[in-house]
Amino acid sequence: MQAGCDDNFYFRSHNMSNIKACIFDLDGVIVDTAIYHYQAWKRLANQLGLNFTEHDNELLKGVSRTRSLEIILELNGVVKTEAEKTELASQKNTWYVEMISKMQPDEILPGAKEFVLACRAAGIKTALGSASKNSMMILEKIGMDKLFDAIIDGNKVSKAKPDPEVFLKGAAELGIAPENCVVFEDAIAGVEAAIAGGMKVVGIGSPEVLGKANFVLSGLSEMSLAKLDEL
Ligand code: G6P
Ligand code: MG
Repeated sequence: MQAGCDDNFYFRSHNMSNIKACIFDLDGVIVDTAIYHYQAWKRLANQLGLNFTEHDNELLKGVSRTRSLEIILELNGVVKTEAEKTELASQKNTWYVEMISKMQPDEILPGAKEFVLACRAAGIKTALGSASKNSMMILEKIGMDKLFDAIIDGNKVSKAKPDPEVFLKGAAELGIAPENCVVFEDAIAGVEAAIAGGMKVVGIGSPEVLGKANFVLSGLSEMSLAKLDEL
């Protein structure tokens, strides 16, 4: 009887120390930049006379800039050359950067900074794993650029989510095994990338969309160190 209790205690303690690193997606987890992406793509779509709705914008979450443009073109049955696509993506980015350059710390999503700080205080490593090439600028604007032990962004990866490259690079830079990492993601492709990398994953958003995650929360304000034990 006594031995059984001890075993349970060991099992729980073991589980408690299982997560050694938290890897955070940026857009939709730390900040809500989807609205800025939408406004910049919408401006481009209007200029080209293409249809693009907020519903279509959902398809672009977690997807690279180039692929996002291709999706908009495909939805409209339009074909462009590689040179034209480079030019159009660059134009969209100029408008997007104009908007994010005005971002402020009050745009951090509720609970995000608090949870990152709680992880660090508990000795849990923190990393950023985002497809965005503008990650550093956003982190600086919101005052969170010093809160990650590793920052893997769109400039450091060649394969987009659902490929696990971005998260595996994060784990490697932290020196933590994938099975001891948990990823926080709002995009289906990101949840799939974390699973493909052999990591745990907490979905941020709706359970209907992110059903493959270990569990789903509406935001990091619902997350706590205690909940890491459930992974
Ligand atoms: C994130 C966003 C995507 C965006 C991508 C690239 O993954 O969720 O919507 O397309 O980053 O962002 P960038 O800032 O490099 O254009
Ligand atoms: Mg995201």
